[in-house]
Amino acid sequence: MKKKILVTCALPYANGPIHLGHIYEHIQADIWVRYQKLIGNTVYFICADDAHGTPILLQSKKLGLSIENMINQIYLEHTSDLSRFNISYDNYYSTHSIENKRLLINIYIKLKRKKLIYSDTIAQLYDTKHNLFLPDRFIIGTCPKCFSSNQYGDCCEVCSTTYNALDLINPKSVLSSTTPEIRMSKHLFFNLPIFNNMLYQWINSGVLDNCILNKVKEWFNVGLKPWNISRDAPYFGFLIPKEVNKYFYVWLDAPIAYISTFKNFCKKNNNVNFYEFWDEHSNTYLYHFIGKDIIYFHSLFWPAILHSINFRKPNKLFVHGHVSINGKKLSKSKNNFITANSYLSVLEADYLRYYYASKLTLGINDINFNLEEFVQKINHDIINKIINLAARSSRFIIEKFNGYLSKKIFDQTLNNIFINSSNDIQIAFEKLDISLVIKKIIYLADLANIFINKNKPWLLTKKDNYHDLHNICSMGIHLFAIIMAYLKPILPSLVEKTELFLNTKLVWVNHITYSKLITSKINSFIHLAKRIELSQVKLIMI
Ligand code: MSP
Ligand code: ZN
Repeated sequence: MKKKILVTCALPYANGPIHLGHIYEHIQADIWVRYQKLIGNTVYFICADDAHGTPILLQSKKLGLSIENMINQIYLEHTSDLSRFNISYDNYYSTHSIENKRLLINIYIKLKRKKLIYSDTIAQLYDTKHNLFLPDRFIIGTCPKCFSSNQYGDCCEVCSTTYNALDLINPKSVLSSTTPEIRMSKHLFFNLPIFNNMLYQWINSGVLDNCILNKVKEWFNVGLKPWNISRDAPYFGFLIPKEVNKYFYVWLDAPIAYISTFKNFCKKNNNVNFYEFWDEHSNTYLYHFIGKDIIYFHSLFWPAILHSINFRKPNKLFVHGHVSINGKKLSKSKNNFITANSYLSVLEADYLRYYYASKLTLGINDINFNLEEFVQKINHDIINKIINLAARSSRFIIEKFNGYLSKKIFDQTLNNIFINSSNDIQIAFEKLDISLVIKKIIYLADLANIFINKNKPWLLTKKDNYHDLHNICSMGIHLFAIIMAYLKPILPSLVEKTELFLNTKLVWVNHITYSKLITSKINSFIHLAKRIELSQVKLIMI
């Protein structure tokens, strides 16, 4: 049975460029989406810019731009970067859209009718120099539990304790370095604790991998807390109806944009049925790709909101760890930062896709982007093992056989190994164990190169050996074609060039038959991919 699947990535904030950390998530999801499409499922892949919140407001001030101008400009940059990385979004929208506003307000009214929202007056930290209530990430101080200094207002990075910003010792505003004042303000709360049992059941229903499940269970042990969904002006977001100068918290309208972005997509594509994907009895599948820093929102608030409005819940959260560069956190101020754009101005998108694929395992381990390892993987795997296979074989096919392949499969055993690997490779793709996919493919590439080395076509160039020369080189091309077909979800550009070279479309392996390949006449070998140098790769660091 073919499936209908909706896939999302977390919505990047519209206050800065797409960087190599974001791209890890988009590449991961895109590989999975392309794989699902290749095996015949119907997949819609959506994302949007997250355009609301205090940091967006402050960034526009810093740049001296109107907020609208800034988010429009960033939207263009983000969509350009993502498409140059071959991320195949069906729709990339924004949280600052009319559809999102309408949906958010409807949802809010529903939640209120169901008495899931209540108000309370609470104390918060206020920056008197900038005249605003400080978001948790704009407050630093000493952790009340382990006494580590320089910790944010929501949780301690040293001992992982979560706390209220008011509990920080010696808090300071990140904006003005002044000591914030405690001020009272009325806020609206979503009653998360009443969903305790429903959520506990849901998180245990296979939607989370075990390592994440354990983390989420800790939050249940401490006890779920009501969720503050309002923010005081000044803020950038949607105003809350019937309240004065109160805005919806960015984290309420952001996940709702998963729905509104899809709604906007359906508007443009009449054949796609919105409710088929969002109705609580939907038979379709919903998958979110997110980083480990936003599990709380996606495993607790989001399913509780969906449940409250009688919408379907996700089938799975694919959670990944964080990318660091040369062993250190991505940081602009410490010059340890690579934007998608600076990468693309020097290197091919497919190289990063390959590198990330080779490191993509299950679980939330962090991933280190190491420049030397990157160069080594590209040159060693893609160039020496894979592209070289085509180069070595095609030379003779072009020179001696006018581009035509032999009709005979020279090594049936080897052919079977290649074809029979499809099952294991498919299982690994499905589970998102992409590094295993790469291992299996490289194993095949090694076998193919051993085959060529053993049969030494370069010694068979005399007329009486033409028969063998033709069969051996054709076999080399055939094996190369299978490898590239397996790599299709990972290396879309390189596979496109390969298809031009082979004069045939590489479809999923069950359908790549030798007969298909021999009907085509291959083109002369143009260099499909170039080797890279470390000095060149160093240019991507900004
Ligand atoms: N806007 C929210 C998401 C809302 S989803 C309804 C947000 N934005 S973000 O720009 O900070 O991050 C977007 C995604 O990129 C998140 O899944 C986050 O984990 C991921 N990453 C951001 N930096 C990252 C790394 N250094 N490494 C890997 N992923 C990283 O959170
Ligand atoms: Zn601590």
